[in-house]
Amino acid sequence: MKVLVAGGMGYIGSHTCVELLEKGYEVVIVDNLCNSSPEAAKRVAAITGKTPLFYELDVRDEKGLSAVFEKERPDCVIHFAGLKAVGESVEKPELYYDNNLGSTITLCRVMARQGCKKLIFSSSATVYSADNAMPLTENSKTGGCTNPYGWTKYFGERILTDIAKADPEWSVVLLRYFNPVGAHESGLMVEDPKGIPNNRMPYISQVAVGKLKELSVFGDDYPTHDGTGVRDYIHVVDLARGHVFAIDYLMSHTGAEAINLGTGTGYSVLDMVKAFGQASGAEVPYRIAPRRPGDIATCYADPTKSREVLGWKAERGLVDMCRDSFRWQSMNPNGYNG
Ligand code: NAD
Ligand code: WQD
Repeated sequence: MKVLVAGGMGYIGSHTCVELLEKGYEVVIVDNLCNSSPEAAKRVAAITGKTPLFYELDVRDEKGLSAVFEKERPDCVIHFAGLKAVGESVEKPELYYDNNLGSTITLCRVMARQGCKKLIFSSSATVYSADNAMPLTENSKTGGCTNPYGWTKYFGERILTDIAKADPEWSVVLLRYFNPVGAHESGLMVEDPKGIPNNRMPYISQVAVGKLKELSVFGDDYPTHDGTGVRDYIHVVDLARGHVFAIDYLMSHTGAEAINLGTGTGYSVLDMVKAFGQASGAEVPYRIAPRRPGDIATCYADPTKSREVLGWKAERGLVDMCRDSFRWQSMNPNGYNG
């Protein structure tokens, strides 16, 4: 079976390519490299012994994408191709709506024309409203997003749900990722954010290897066990494997289904600092800073549906996430640039 992976050179996409190739799937990557490096495909090949086919192309390039579909005739598609920096989306909303929604609509148009109507979409826990009780189930309230990035995921889900409703041949799985962290245990794969990282784990890793001075902990007065924000961190290899399980589901069902990919356990910023210190053998310096606007106290998944519907559950814990993040950061202190 052949899987077209849009955005397959990025962090989650490249880890998913490893899992797909190891399970014997053929992989065709389409990526415009706007937030990734061609080195990712070389690392995928180094781990799996198989080189994925790669087309450097913007998914919004309908003519170019149609040509790839005609040549490769994929059986299904995983759509990772999107911009994901929350702060940047507030500054450049049109860029985010154009890229994230434009890519989704173009992809669906080309897929429908080619008769390939099986799609897995990278959604996010960010689609859930801030006023839900925890844990979040797939029936928790969505909407009320606090930034354009979040709305692109919300509208992306809406568009795909409506497409699947209008044409019963479509099968769509909307995977709502919680907080992906970690890396392949080989240390060869990298999360390579451009510039100063926004998210906690890349920031902590860069502090641990001495690239950044200290972690700013955004707020210590939340109603959580130690006052710092709690999230459901999920190892990226577990997340990548979730996509392989979702392909099996996709092949035997129609309609659109939203499914959480999380562990069901929340950890605070200070839990993570402590675990990272243990994994790296050195304390992670931090200071308490003001709350970050838009942050909520606690966010974690109810993972029941992923277990019941996909037969998947996360297997790696906090120590694995910290150990594997520290390993790749130590082996590749400047990302794929050395
Ligand atoms: P990433 O930036 O590492 O990967 C995205 C890839 O898509 C990059 O290789 C980029 O070059 C490519 N891309 C972007 N726009 C494109 C376009 N128009 N045409 C072709 N290629 C394009 O990000 P990631 O962390 O791997 O995230 C993958 C997906 O998962 C994104 O859609 C993101 O919104 C979603 N997601 C990520 C997280 C997270 O915390 N990392 C959480 C929830 C959801
Ligand atoms: C986690 C916790 C921060 C950095 C974001 C997106 C979300 C999704 C995943 C794509 C919070 C605290 C962070 C730092 C800190 N992405 N923190 N110091 O905000 O849960 O989710 O990534 O869909 O849409 O919003 O993740 O890693 O940024 O923050 O104290 O330097 O760490 O306040 O409590 P978040 P995060």
